[in-house]
Formats: sequence, structure tokens, C-alpha cells
Amino acid sequence: MRSLVLVLGAGIFASVPQCKACHQIGENAKNAVGPVLNGLFGRKAGTIEGFAYSSANKNSGITWDEATFREYIKDPKARIPGTKMVFPGLKDPKQIDDVVAYLKQFDSAGKKKAEIVPAGRKLAKVQ
Ligand code: HEC
Repeated sequence: MRSLVLVLGAGIFASVPQCKACHQIGENAKNAVGPVLNGLFGRKAGTIEGFAYSSANKNSGITWDEATFREYIKDPKARIPGTKMVFPGLKDPKQIDDVVAYLKQFDSAGKKKAEIVPAGRKLAKVQ
């Protein structure tokens, strides 16, 4: 069991740094090139205060849940034509799983919901 945990811990959230070039998350997160990603699931698209969204994003009518997010992050321009998020998308379903699991940890105040972090998944490196 111990070795299994270590294996899971090693490569987890490897895709998240790609988002961090443009997005912040956590208690002190600020809008950057892209909007803060705290509390994403359940949030309406285009609603982070102080971020200048494209009208395509703001008017997309999306409320982010796991299904819409997975579709979007595979190919952002296909899901929201006209988005100003310049990102080609994550093609590997495992990368998408990583990012979903990572985003789910943060509530809308950027606090970590510690109870859903399985023991052994060391997250310190990607923050
Ligand atoms: C090159 C910069 C860049 C990268 C890299 C990037 N984003 Fe974005 N993202 C943006 C911008 C800019 C927007 C705003 C889009 C708009 O207004 O059209 C955005 C919007 C979003 C939104 C919609 C937010 C909302 O409030 O509606 C989500 C979700 C998102 N990004 C997630 C991600 C994730 C997850 C990654 C990594 C896999 C990522 N982004 C990588 C720049 C980026």
C-alpha cells in the first residue's frame, strides 16, 4: 500500500503548472492574465470581479461543472469561440483528471478543502 501511495504522489497534478502561467488559485490569488480559479465548480462563467473577460466568455451561458469544464479545457476555442484564453487545450484525459482534482480542492475563498486530499498526495510542489 505504501508504494502505491508513493507512485500516485509522484506524477500528480503535473499539468497544473501550465495553467499557472496565467491563472492564480488559493487564498491570496489575484487576477492575472486569466481570472482567479477559486471555487470554479458551481461558478457562472465570466463572473470574477475585476477581470476584463471577453464577451464570448461572459455571454457563454456556462455554469462551470465538471462536464462543461472537461469539454472546455480539451479545446477552449471550440467550446467558447472568441475566448481570449490562448491555450491549445489538454488532450490527455489523465491531465484533465489532474486539473479537475486540483481545482476541486479550493473553495471560493481559496481555502483548501483538506478532507478531499488523499493522504500521500503531496501538493506543496505545485503551489
Ligand atoms: C496563456 C494564458 C492562459 C493559460 C495558459 C490558461 N488560461 Fe485559462 N484563461 C485565460 C484567459 C485570458 C481567460 C479569460 C477568457 C476570456 O475572457 O475570454 C481564461 C479563462 C479561463 C476559465 C474561465 C473562467 C471564468 O471565470 O469563466 C477557466 C475555467 C480557465 N481559464 C481554466 C484554465 C485552466 C484549468 C488552465 C490550464 C489547463 C488554463 N486556464 C490555462 C488565460 C489562460
